Amino acid sequence: MGEIQKVGVVGLGAMGAGIAQLCVEAGVDTVGREVTAELGEKARDRIGHFLTRKVEKGQLDQSARDEAVGRLTLTTELEDFAGCGLVIEAIVEELEPKRELFAELDRICGPEAVLATNTSALSVTEIAAATTRPERIVGMHFFNPAPLMPLVEIVRAELTADEPFETAYAFGERIGKTPIRCHDTPGFVVNRVLIPLLNDCIRVLDEARVTPEDLDTGLKNGAGWPMGPCALVDLVGIDVHVHASEALYEKTREPRMAPPPRLVAMRNAGLLGRKSGRGFYSY
Ligand SMILES: NC(=O)c1ccc[n+]([C@@H]2O[C@H](COP(=O)([O-])OP(=O)(O)OC[C@H]3O[C@@H](n4cnc5c(N)ncnc54)[C@H](O)[C@@H]3O)[C@@H](O)[C@H]2O)c1
Repeated sequence: MGEIQKVGVVGLGAMGAGIAQLCVEAGVDTVGREVTAELGEKARDRIGHFLTRKVEKGQLDQSARDEAVGRLTLTTELEDFAGCGLVIEAIVEELEPKRELFAELDRICGPEAVLATNTSALSVTEIAAATTRPERIVGMHFFNPAPLMPLVEIVRAELTADEPFETAYAFGERIGKTPIRCHDTPGFVVNRVLIPLLNDCIRVLDEARVTPEDLDTGLKNGAGWPMGPCALVDLVGIDVHVHASEALYEKTREPRMAPPPRLVAMRNAGLLGRKSGRGFYSY
């Protein structure tokens, strides 16, 4: 299959808007779908705003910025994905809406199209099973914020064929990311390692009666971490981390995956980290 000419992005929230931004910056015509026209326009404004900031910082020409924004077409109709060689889904993290969407995309998109999901914790294989072309379904797991975080995990579901898998990998490179290949297992690679590790770090706060400041100092200076675990959980969002831990625990039943009670209590109290102004640290 040749190079992807047109990409679809379904859901223009935090992740989808970032992914669409990467695509238009890389010169790819992109169709973005939201549930209402207003949500789509808000996402386009956010993308335009980020690209304007790049112009202000001298990282992008004004004309390149305008051309990039011009490559994004908005729609509320899935039928507009008919001409896309690749569609990347970034809607709510729930299995049934994703399966329904993939069944629709399967009906609408050409037989050569590759359909990708940005799910963090759901099974790509279960999403693929809602279609008649499970061999053309892959995971493309970007990290938040997608325009800034280099990694994308290219996830091979149980029935994914080589060609669509490599097409997704090549597309990840084309939009400037650093792709890695892996199979469809809970948490894929980075979250499978990072979530239990961060949970261990939080448990050590109580076991070793160490302060968050000292724990962060320890991991930075004794293990070479660029950022301490408490600062990292604050950045990710304590609610987001608890939710991801619960999802991984449900799938694996490994005690280290379960969110530490201390984090659940912080989440319940509204201490969500940077975004709420308070977590382990105050912002
Ligand atoms: N936020 C993260 O850190 C992160 C990181 C990696 C992967 N993900 C995954 O990316 C996906 C999206 O997460 P997010 O944080 O961007 O969520 P979000 O809530 O910010 O955005 C989801 C968007 O999808 C829209 N939407 C819902 N159903 C739709 C449909 N049928 N068609 C079109 N649009 C629809 C919503 O209106 C919303 O704007 C999830 O699967 C999530 O697990 C999130």
